[in-house]
Amino acid sequence: MRPMRSLLASAFAAALSFSAPVMAAEEPAMPNVGWKFEKLFGTYDLASAQRGFQIYSNVCANCHSMSLLHYRDLEGIGLDAGQIKAITAGVTVPQGTDDQGAPKEGPATPANTFKSPFANDKAARSANNGALPPDLSLIVNAREGGPNYIYGIITGFAEAPSTFKMQDGMYYNKMYPGHQIAMPQPLQDGTVEYADGTGTSLDQEARDVVTFLSWASNPEMVERKQMGVRIVLFFIFMTGITYAVKRRLWSDVH
Ligand code: HEC
Repeated sequence: MRPMRSLLASAFAAALSFSAPVMAAEEPAMPNVGWKFEKLFGTYDLASAQRGFQIYSNVCANCHSMSLLHYRDLEGIGLDAGQIKAITAGVTVPQGTDDQGAPKEGPATPANTFKSPFANDKAARSANNGALPPDLSLIVNAREGGPNYIYGIITGFAEAPSTFKMQDGMYYNKMYPGHQIAMPQPLQDGTVEYADGTGTSLDQEARDVVTFLSWASNPEMVERKQMGVRIVLFFIFMTGITYAVKRRLWSDVH
């Protein structure tokens, strides 16, 4: 018994010591922002999501599409029909052909999907040093670490350490695997100006755009949580009823 156990223990210790240094060398610590929407009954901070949409539109949309979203979906972050109309009025999209058969353009409608910055992937790559800016519609779900990881990328730009070999046209980023990313730092302090007077530190801007992107990836999250609460209440209610019925039925059996 004894030798067997110590054999197992030393095998386990060996496995640990084998894997630990590998992980420690590569992985930077994931930031822990403490998102309100990740709490048990947490909801999206809609004002923050709206500021995040502003950042997406002013900055990220120059390179990244979000082609799964329709303009009317923005009702989900609290914009009303008038505000959405005002947004689409400023967007020009192809609209079939005119009477001469030439391609026609016109203002978008709330039923349109978000306009993409590039006509196709090749155009996107050629404008970005060969790298493809991924569509951001589901990016928060698509990356391990979700909102914390995206926040880490946006706030993770830094000078490369002097010993680090950078390739041309790449940018050093503490969070990105391999630390070389083809995206130039998109946000810094004061990149945008907020109508609601919120400060525009890099931290605040990053929180806002990540809140917006989290909503885009999981627009039904709040409903799902509310449904969960209702289901639990229903089961508590049913338990009470069943217990009352059981007592009734068995009341004359002693
Ligand atoms: C100048 C163009 C440009 C702008 C502006 C830009 N990006 Fe990017 N982004 C890129 C490119 C190119 C990549 C692909 C990087 C790579 O493959 O190395 C990328 C990658 C990403 C990724 C994926 C990282 C990963 O893990 O794969 C995220 C998330 C991202 N961008 C978010 C944003 C957000 C949020 C904004 C706005 C605040 C933004 N980007 C603005 C060009 C841009």
